[in-house]
Amino acid sequence: MNVFVIGGAGYIGSHVVKALLKDGCSVTVYDNLSSGLEQNLFKNAKFVKGDILDYEKLLEASKGYDAIIHLAAFKAAGESMIKPEKYSVNNITGTLNILNAASVNEIKRIVFSSSAATYGEPSYLPIDEDHPKNPENYYGFTKLEIERFLAWYDQLKGIRFAALRYFNAAGYDPEGEITGLEQNPANLLPVIMEVAAGMRSELGIFGDDYDTVDGTGVRDYVHVTDLADAHVKALHYIDDKDESLTVNLGSENGLSVKQIVDAARDITGQTITANIMPRRPGDPAKLVASSKKANELLKWKANFSDVETLVKSSWNAYLANKK
Ligand code: UD1
Repeated sequence: MNVFVIGGAGYIGSHVVKALLKDGCSVTVYDNLSSGLEQNLFKNAKFVKGDILDYEKLLEASKGYDAIIHLAAFKAAGESMIKPEKYSVNNITGTLNILNAASVNEIKRIVFSSSAATYGEPSYLPIDEDHPKNPENYYGFTKLEIERFLAWYDQLKGIRFAALRYFNAAGYDPEGEITGLEQNPANLLPVIMEVAAGMRSELGIFGDDYDTVDGTGVRDYVHVTDLADAHVKALHYIDDKDESLTVNLGSENGLSVKQIVDAARDITGQTITANIMPRRPGDPAKLVASSKKANELLKWKANFSDVETLVKSSWNAYLANKK
């Protein structure tokens, strides 16, 4: 299959490109390199530098492909509450440009990076796809709105979609081929890695008085290589069945902040200074996915999402950058 990967130079996108190439697809990456990195590009994939807000360029560049994988978005939940305009323009307008280009160019398959942020505060655990959707932040709202646009373009234009609701993406390519580090990360594991690598002085643990195993926040961390594998499977599913799909992607295993810090101390051999800070607004105590649907429909399961592989593969990427 001839696949156009928007945001393919990014952290998750680069892992998806690797999985598509392994699957025998021919791949073109379209990325504006705002957070994506040249370092993340593969020699055997084509690259077009372009923005999803440049409709003419996008329309021209996406001609003739069988499928689009769309991973281009801003994703900082906290920032989205302060700068909603940025998220409206890039995430929503940008996606509408992609859908319109797909429609004009008659591309009938699209795989979209959605998020567990579409659910908001959990009313039960584990969270399945039928859980109520009440995003707690504007970022999550953009993802949910885009899912609704996708459903309309499916109905009106026959564009089949896979909306993949990622839980907490983490880890790096276990084969060590992808080592581009995210700049100024705010997510837990890269922050821990930066402390371990001496790039920042300490980790702030946002609250230790939650009703969880050790008082710190519990999340469902899913390895980016597992996510990438799900994109390939989802693409084949919508192609084979000619029907759209919305699924959670999580490991179904909750890990607390402290459990990850302990594992990181063990694996890196570094002290990793961590201090308890106040809770971060909007943070639920615990989020864990049910991935039963992805399991059943895609025959997908997380194979690399144990804490050791998550931390070890991340640490190896940080070490590779130190050389
Ligand atoms: C958030 C979004 C998620 C989004 C993801 C990508 C929500 C509820 N979640 O996930 O949708 O896809 O970001 O960026 O909007 N923590 C610390 N110290 C830190 C950083 C994090 O203690 O310096 C804790 C948090 O309180 C949380 C856990 O670590 O318990 C994970 O946090 P983080 O990596 O930021 O991800 P989420 O907030 O779960």
